[in-house]
Amino acid sequence: MTALDARPRTGTTLRFPEAFRWGTATAAYQIEGAAGEDGRSPSIWDTFSRTPGKVRNGDTGDTAADHYHRVDEDVALMRSLGVTDYRFSLAWPRVQPAGRGPAARKGLDFYRRLTDRLREAGIRPVATLYHWDLPQALEDAGGWPERETAYRFADYAALAADALGDRVATWTTLNEPWCSAFLGYGSGVHAPGRTGDADALRAAHHLNLAHGLGVRALRAALPAGAEVSLTLNLHAVRPHTDTPQDRDAVRRIDAVGNRIFLDPVFRGSLPDDLVRDTADVTDWSFVRDGDCAAAAEPIDSLGLNYYSPAAVAARTPADDDAAPSGSPSPWAGAERHVRFVPLSGPRTAMDWPVDAAGLYELLLRLRDELPHVPLLITENGAAYEDYADPSGEVKDPERVAYLRAHLEAVHRAIGAGADVRGYFLWSLLDNFEWAYGYSKRFGIVHVDFPTQRRTPKSSARWYADVIARGGLTA
Ligand code: NOJ
Repeated sequence: MTALDARPRTGTTLRFPEAFRWGTATAAYQIEGAAGEDGRSPSIWDTFSRTPGKVRNGDTGDTAADHYHRVDEDVALMRSLGVTDYRFSLAWPRVQPAGRGPAARKGLDFYRRLTDRLREAGIRPVATLYHWDLPQALEDAGGWPERETAYRFADYAALAADALGDRVATWTTLNEPWCSAFLGYGSGVHAPGRTGDADALRAAHHLNLAHGLGVRALRAALPAGAEVSLTLNLHAVRPHTDTPQDRDAVRRIDAVGNRIFLDPVFRGSLPDDLVRDTADVTDWSFVRDGDCAAAAEPIDSLGLNYYSPAAVAARTPADDDAAPSGSPSPWAGAERHVRFVPLSGPRTAMDWPVDAAGLYELLLRLRDELPHVPLLITENGAAYEDYADPSGEVKDPERVAYLRAHLEAVHRAIGAGADVRGYFLWSLLDNFEWAYGYSKRFGIVHVDFPTQRRTPKSSARWYADVIARGGLTA
């Protein structure tokens, strides 16, 4: 039985607000392909994915889902889903290949074409400026640990807004700067693959600065009324037990995982405890007066990406005997005090726990801490082992269950007063899942990569039905 056949005929019981934005999300390097076309320069992900051993199966984004050549088809797919919004990212190396200086006309033309098609289809474009594909030239000059990169980002933001501000009303500066800083420069599992706690903290600071300078540049170039935002992957961290030691483990991860961005951006300062916790890693002398105030340039909404929560406990000497730490960690030294405790229950193909309560917890925290900031869920979704059955159908009931549970959590949070304005499902298409290459499928549309054939999965039909009803059925 397909999801369509199984569709409950009863009414919509969990109705979302009338103006709720129903979207899907993607990112340039993960779907576009056309890596060497129309003047695009290499990004750190081109370099990293070509480095043996960095990405599973040696996969690269050279072709990806070939979206660069399939815009019409992909927008038509979205139209058939009925989405109101589409979140995508601009490839910095396509728009400004040298990472400084002039724009590439053909690169901008691509985004003009995409946004034209979207607007013809009645779909609002939501553009992210930076979804991890730093021009390699800027990494060669030092990358995010260098202050200069923040200034380069502000120039790029101005240039993109000048060119596309007449057609894109919602802009996001950065996607998940935690990953850029701590996976890119801390653990090294993401591009550029560098490992060093001090560099990761420097990168995080310069990403905050880039965000604030970027907001300023966007405001100067965009028409009044444009929406400017930031997307964070806030960590939902729980204590393993209710002891002061385990609660302190949560505090440490919250500092380096969440408040390192939330505090500069919304309060204009760094968390004191973070500075204390990392004193043996860095003296933070790269922070200049006024940087955090610049990061706190007001924004119109906050994007939250959520997949799963984590539980932590205080690390004891016995833990160290049992599991001596090996590979570099992304936690800037916090891992010496903290142990991650596996959560039980169902897991996705990424081995991430399925736990919608974590999303609810984060939304309520944001309701309480940032009561005046409208929220968007800019990503939520799951990878499963999808395949086309002999009749050509791709049935993904586990993904439907995951999405339903998370949308229920969003609905419950809205009922409890969280100001959630929209939900962007990750992802429209199966795509290049970073260090996992094409081995993990997050799409609600299956992509057969050798032929690039798109097949909506049963979750796509389910999501179209949710959108049409404006909510969930019982
Ligand atoms: C967050 C990232 O923004 C996106 O690029 C990635 O594919 C998903 N998480 C799934 O890991």
